[in-house]
Amino acid sequence: MSAAHKDVEALSEAEAAAELERLAKEIAKHDKAYYEKDAPKISDAAYDQLRQRNAAIEERFPQLKRNDSPSERVGAKPSEQFAEVRHAVPMLSLGNAFSDEDVEDFIARIRRFLNLEESPVLTAEPKIDGLSANLRYEDGELVLGATRGDGRSGENVTANLKTIPGIPHRIEGAPDVLEVRGEVYMSHADFATLNQRQEAAGKKTYMNPRNAAAGSLRQIDPKITAQRPLRFFAYAWGELSEPLAATQYEAVQRLGELGFEINADMARCEGLEDVLKHYRALEEKRAQLGYDIDGVVYKVDRLDWQERLGFVSRAPRWAIAHKFPAEKATTVLNDIEIQVGRTGALTPVAKLKPVTVGGVVVSNATLHNEDEIARKDVRIGDTVVIQRAGDVIPQIVEVLTDKRPKGAEPFEFPKTCPCKLATPAEREVNPRTGEVSVVRRCTGEFACPYQRKEHLKHFVSRKAFDIEGLGEKQIEAFYEEGAVTEPAHIFTLKARNEAGELDPPLSKREGWGEKSAANLFEAIEARRTIALSRFINALGIRHVGEETARLLATTYGSWTSFREAADAASDDEAEARETMLSIDGMGDTAVDAIGRFFAEDHNAAALDRLLDQVTVEDAEQAASDSPVAGKTVVFTGSLERFTRDEAKARAQSLGAKVAGSVSGKTDYLVAGPGAGSKLKKAEELGVQVLSEDDWLTLIGGE
Ligand code: IVH
Repeated sequence: MSAAHKDVEALSEAEAAAELERLAKEIAKHDKAYYEKDAPKISDAAYDQLRQRNAAIEERFPQLKRNDSPSERVGAKPSEQFAEVRHAVPMLSLGNAFSDEDVEDFIARIRRFLNLEESPVLTAEPKIDGLSANLRYEDGELVLGATRGDGRSGENVTANLKTIPGIPHRIEGAPDVLEVRGEVYMSHADFATLNQRQEAAGKKTYMNPRNAAAGSLRQIDPKITAQRPLRFFAYAWGELSEPLAATQYEAVQRLGELGFEINADMARCEGLEDVLKHYRALEEKRAQLGYDIDGVVYKVDRLDWQERLGFVSRAPRWAIAHKFPAEKATTVLNDIEIQVGRTGALTPVAKLKPVTVGGVVVSNATLHNEDEIARKDVRIGDTVVIQRAGDVIPQIVEVLTDKRPKGAEPFEFPKTCPCKLATPAEREVNPRTGEVSVVRRCTGEFACPYQRKEHLKHFVSRKAFDIEGLGEKQIEAFYEEGAVTEPAHIFTLKARNEAGELDPPLSKREGWGEKSAANLFEAIEARRTIALSRFINALGIRHVGEETARLLATTYGSWTSFREAADAASDDEAEARETMLSIDGMGDTAVDAIGRFFAEDHNAAALDRLLDQVTVEDAEQAASDSPVAGKTVVFTGSLERFTRDEAKARAQSLGAKVAGSVSGKTDYLVAGPGAGSKLKKAEELGVQVLSEDDWLTLIGGE
């Protein structure tokens, strides 16, 4: 009898491995037929049997579970299947508050920014743990529904969103253009039922209600989504042809009147004391709500104030998420592993006996650094209390020393990199302050295989080159075999594959096929042209993250001028350094790091090889027809109509660059009463000086 016909109980280990391989292929074939071609070749029942058999074998032989196991997937790969849509108004994220003091600071910042004598009225509402969606209505008709994605663009999941009962397809009495935003989520009861159903059918079960909601919404076949018990709460909006109301509270009520479900626990609060009272009340009520919430969101009620407050980076100044305290659990520390990050930092990772915390199985936790291990005296074998808050990496909060096994030794932190070169790892001393870093870093830089690999992972990550199908796992594999050891190699993969230099060719490898290999090469080709800010971020220069990369891109506009400035900064040319430092938001540390990066011959050479392969687009000029777009402005003295922060934010939103010091490149100095040395310098250099009122007239403010 062939293995395919044997009972699971009767299979030998070798037969089971062969069966799992056969089932993985077979199920993948049917998935493709069903999801991509809409042409199933077998009945649903026969398909379910295949999955059940696969699950049963995996249960008997967990060690044989394959990387491409069908139980890890539902349907075909989703992200390639949905069209990308750019949001008319970006979908923002929220800053977090973890304590009452954080909330107090939040309110104080708003008061300072708007120069208010009293605390502003705030709304407080549950932070629903689901995934956000944008629903676009034109003339009352639902025309587009999208996931949040990276905030700028998401996936078009209109057909799927339309299956959710709480989402009307038509609404009456709405503005001509109305984008409703809110959270797609699943209740606890529905989640439990869904998982039972999935399990009975031998299908993948979900980790928690949020994953279940996300997995259900991103099904290729809306018929499947329709069978999933999804719900939707409306709490915000995107593009509008006319305002909904004058306040947050009334605008949300209006969404309720238009037919959307809104949260009954939204309240209007007078100030700190009031919001904290609502927070505690919701914390009490949390377990009875029947759906997951992970905190309370506070928003400034007056919409005109929200507008003035604007955003920092990707989060509004007018809102914050006050998180509930983390959930805790006790488990055993089996080992401490040292990981090497992109910048060489040696990070100790706790390998734990798996334990469920707040619905998620945790087997790793961060131990931060060697001082932290010494301070807590964490030893291998210890029983530890861990906590997990939201998406943050779990942490060890306490060691239960009375449970310590005999003979457990204090942990000795390695002084060398764990890679085969065993390069010395050192704690840096800040040359300016003399402070010793808590981080021990491998000094190998580009000689260190771990750092190179992490650099490559960063290079292809979402906020950098974002190459579909080329994630950490693939980079890991290409790096290990030596096929990709620097960024430029990614762009020569296809040619080398065609020339037979990859052995075996990609399409013949485990986990790859003709189609997926072709897709990867296509995704790589699509990134041969890249935006300047993404490119700068991709370089992985220390202290230059996404936000700094964006500042540099808008300031320098093109790769050539950024490179010139960076080379000059690395030669320590005072003027180039000054200009870079004058960019609001840039500090010495970042400028030093840029200088060091470009001074390194290895980096410069690798960059040149990369630039043979890719084209860096000039930065989009601020999409603004304001007369100050692209101009460099410095504010000095005291301003009377706005706070300094608000004036700066407003200027930036109009496309101006705000600098901290006056130079030959300054276009305007806005000087209020009490202006001193900057005014003098501007006059010497012949920079145009404006009063606050002149400035307002120029930007069309009043
Ligand atoms: S307001 C500009 N309100 O939290 C602020 N967000 O961390 C836009 N979320 O992506 C969001 N409940 O998925 C807002 N009542 C609520 C929310 C909420 C959950 C999620 C949302 C957003 C994320 C930001």
